[in-house]
Amino acid sequence: MTTDPHAAGKTTHDAEEDIRNRDILIYVDGDLVHKDDAKVSVYDSGFMLGDGMWEGMRLYDGEWAFFDEHMDRLFNSCKAVSLDIGKTPVQIREILDRTAAANGMTGDAHCRLMITRGRKAKPFQHPGLSKWGPTIVAIVEHSRPSEDVQRRGIRLASVPQVRGLPHSQDPKFNSHSKLNCVIACLQAEQAGADEALMLDPHGFVNTTNACNFFIVRRGEVWTSTGDYCMNGVTRQKVIDLCRDNGIPVFEKNFSLYEAYGADEAFLTGTFGAQTPVASIDGKQIGDGAAGPVMMRIRALYKELVVRNVADQKAARL
Ligand SMILES: Cc1ncc(COP(=O)(O)O)c(C=O)c1O
Repeated sequence: MTTDPHAAGKTTHDAEEDIRNRDILIYVDGDLVHKDDAKVSVYDSGFMLGDGMWEGMRLYDGEWAFFDEHMDRLFNSCKAVSLDIGKTPVQIREILDRTAAANGMTGDAHCRLMITRGRKAKPFQHPGLSKWGPTIVAIVEHSRPSEDVQRRGIRLASVPQVRGLPHSQDPKFNSHSKLNCVIACLQAEQAGADEALMLDPHGFVNTTNACNFFIVRRGEVWTSTGDYCMNGVTRQKVIDLCRDNGIPVFEKNFSLYEAYGADEAFLTGTFGAQTPVASIDGKQIGDGAAGPVMMRIRALYKELVVRNVADQKAARL
């Protein structure tokens, strides 16, 4: 038996084991089917080319937190790649609600909504061959972020793979193809870390392979300019919360030099909200655990989610 608490590897998406997920129902193009039977065609644009967009959303007390913001990003991304969702945000919410209800979920659940260009007539790239689409799938799982990850933090390694320029593949696309990020994650894993800290094309600290990245230096919160990373919903909420609560926050260029010397570092994403970073390239960050500024932001974020859920409930009446 190993004594290294990190031996199994930690990721920001580690969840507590929940056996109920063995028998969940998954939404596939209008039907709710057992996960063992939830399938798409091998001709699907998403399977064949990674040609699709997705959103990760969390269910709190019967509502999808920051649903409008997630729909803004999804619809904007799909418009940018001429992918017709064929549904309104209200209809998408009905799909998610129906899937959650079928699984008896009202909270502690995480959704991966996937929209691809659909089934192709031939196994080639041209989008015109995607004759039958879109394909819409919603996986909603029982999910509680791992307390162990919150306690121990994530170990990052800086990697050669960058999240790059908008004229190659815009880093704002939450595209099905995550190969760029998967390569980064492999590089981090091979360096003995949990996840990758990706730089931008100029060498400034940018993002991780799956979350946005923040540091805290002398009470100031810093994150990248936003030009080369995912326009994370949680990232924006953290920036807004800092601004509204007198915490100095800056979107700016900074290098690994400042990241290594930070008092705190943390990641943001819908799944884990805010997750502490224990180390970068083997250098401990601060105390190697969640710091006071992150903990304050985490508390503010929890309150914001509660307010957003209440607002959504009121809007439904
Ligand atoms: C590369 C990357 N960065 C950041 C995020 C976090 O975004 P959000 O806060 O909207 O969940 C994600 C999540 O999809 C992501 O894939």
